[in-house]
Amino acid sequence: MRRVNDDRPGQPGQPDAPDVPPEAWSGVHRGVLREGEWVRLVDAKGRKHNFELVAGKRFFSNKGHLDHDELIGREEGFTVTSSAGGEYLVFRPLLSEFVVSMPRGAAVVYPKDSAQIVAMADIFPGAHVVEAGVGSGALTCSLLRAVGPHGRVSSYEVREEFAEVAQRNVRQFFGAEEGRDHPAWHLTIGDLAAELPASGERCDRIILDMLAPWDCLDAVGEALRPGGIVCAYVATTTQLSRFAEAVRLHGGFTEPHAWESLVRDWHLEGLAVRPSHAMNGHTAFLITARRMAPGQRPPLKKRRPAPGAYGPDYTGPRPPGVPAPPPEADGAPGTDG
Ligand SMILES: C[S@@+](CC[C@H](N)C(=O)[O-])C[C@H]1O[C@@H](n2cnc3c(N)ncnc32)[C@H](O)[C@@H]1O
Repeated sequence: MRRVNDDRPGQPGQPDAPDVPPEAWSGVHRGVLREGEWVRLVDAKGRKHNFELVAGKRFFSNKGHLDHDELIGREEGFTVTSSAGGEYLVFRPLLSEFVVSMPRGAAVVYPKDSAQIVAMADIFPGAHVVEAGVGSGALTCSLLRAVGPHGRVSSYEVREEFAEVAQRNVRQFFGAEEGRDHPAWHLTIGDLAAELPASGERCDRIILDMLAPWDCLDAVGEALRPGGIVCAYVATTTQLSRFAEAVRLHGGFTEPHAWESLVRDWHLEGLAVRPSHAMNGHTAFLITARRMAPGQRPPLKKRRPAPGAYGPDYTGPRPPGVPAPPPEADGAPGTDG
């Protein structure tokens, strides 16, 4: 056996290793459970309890109580029994578990969608990412983990009370001391459409999770580097359509690509191997487009729009090359009147 790159410079333990250890600011903690960390207890019925470990404190449930001191100082991945005989599995929460159990101001991006955003919006270590709104900070945690301590996530949120919730959640996930944030995180209170141009930021990726992402497209176009990606996360088909048409109308982006992800759990028991009965049927749609170089336009679509796509009932913006239909005369054949 020959190890190829174990002793290259820059590896931990080597003389010129970077001063940031690889797991720093990942939100992952190793070693024994310590006071101040969060743990996740799961009972025999799958019920979950997340809480912060505090020496001398007690956790209560319908199965009696447990002293936090019984958990502090142990390696995660064990079972404890409460005073009334309830068995609990003890681990530190994963990022995907943390974001669905943390306190919320606004609705969060679910882990299946954060994973899609990180992959399809091509978030990379060292990237400069802009996101709005921050909401509860769920997506922020995934973005920060993906860019790492040497990247930059600039988050914009109009509602100060949501930004405060997000700041608490992000600090908690990354185990930041009070008053300290992830070194790559820059949080601004304000409307992205106004604040991003004012900041003069140039970035690689922009993620929009808000009611009206089309209102921010001019600011996005200014800030995104050529080749950069804008990705919007929208809950309804009407938002999806409006964003797609606004992207086309802007003219400085490639043809938008839209999709959704459906994740179905499976039940595995002997011969009973089947999809689980329950699933998260709908969270939101994702749509991406890439920024063209200054002054460049994407080629006009060669295909003609589907019949009726931009017919008389369509009231949104029209992409270049798609004229408005002539107004139909009252009582003309084919009209309702
Ligand atoms: C659904 S929440 C975002 C959830 C967040 N992505 C998460 O995973 O926790 C939408 C947020 O966008 C904020 N928002 C809406 N329009 C905005 C704008 N133009 N600029 C900044 N924030 C905005 C809202 O206040 C709200 O907190």
